[in-house]
Amino acid sequence: MVSETRILIAPSVLSADFADLGRQVRAVTDAGADLIHVDVMDGVFVPAISFGEVVVDAIRANTDVPLNIHLMIQEPENLLSTFAKVESDQILIHAEACGHLHRTVSRIKGMGNQVGVAINPGTSVSAVEDVLPLLDMVMVMSVNPGASGQSFIPQSLDKIRRLKTIIDEAKFDAQIEVDGGIKADWTAEDSIKAGATILVAGSAIFNDQESIPDAMNGMRECVLG
Ligand code: DX5
Ligand code: ZN
Repeated sequence: MVSETRILIAPSVLSADFADLGRQVRAVTDAGADLIHVDVMDGVFVPAISFGEVVVDAIRANTDVPLNIHLMIQEPENLLSTFAKVESDQILIHAEACGHLHRTVSRIKGMGNQVGVAINPGTSVSAVEDVLPLLDMVMVMSVNPGASGQSFIPQSLDKIRRLKTIIDEAKFDAQIEVDGGIKADWTAEDSIKAGATILVAGSAIFNDQESIPDAMNGMRECVLG
């Protein structure tokens, strides 16, 4: 598939071997990751707890690639100084988790970070529409957040298309990111056709079936068509 915009691949370290995290982060960096997707889960907004500041710092210490930090945290405003402390990192918060979405987005921008808002599969595009002009990224969750290795929800493609139409018509800058169940197959291809330009991939990159460089090459070939 030919796309005029460069498609960014963001491996999600949630699927990495945490006993070997530094080496795995360096491996995806060497294999050409455009961003490193970092899933912070608080056990409240989503049932699971993943990791916090110490692990995010350890990931950052092993790569020069910007971190794409996905905060699955209820009221992330309380923890912005913890996770938005390095300006080159991108911060993604959930529309469903913020009582004051506009204020939280504005605060992140004020800290100098790129900012994105994620919406769950059950959340309508309208939940993010009023902050869209402020965003660098809008992230469509193509699985229910909380775990890697789930199947892509096909209805996500419609949501990506709707966002793409709104963004193009209003000439907003936001890129569309898609997170969950992305493989080097129709899920990546159709997401790009629908308008996504940032693809998160966890279990497609970190798995027992192929090496990290092979998995990254497969994904890159798929997105280049
Ligand atoms: C899910 C996370 C995703 C996850 C993606 O809650 O936000 O980033 O790690 O993993 P895969 O690509 O395996 O669905
Ligand atoms: Zn994520």
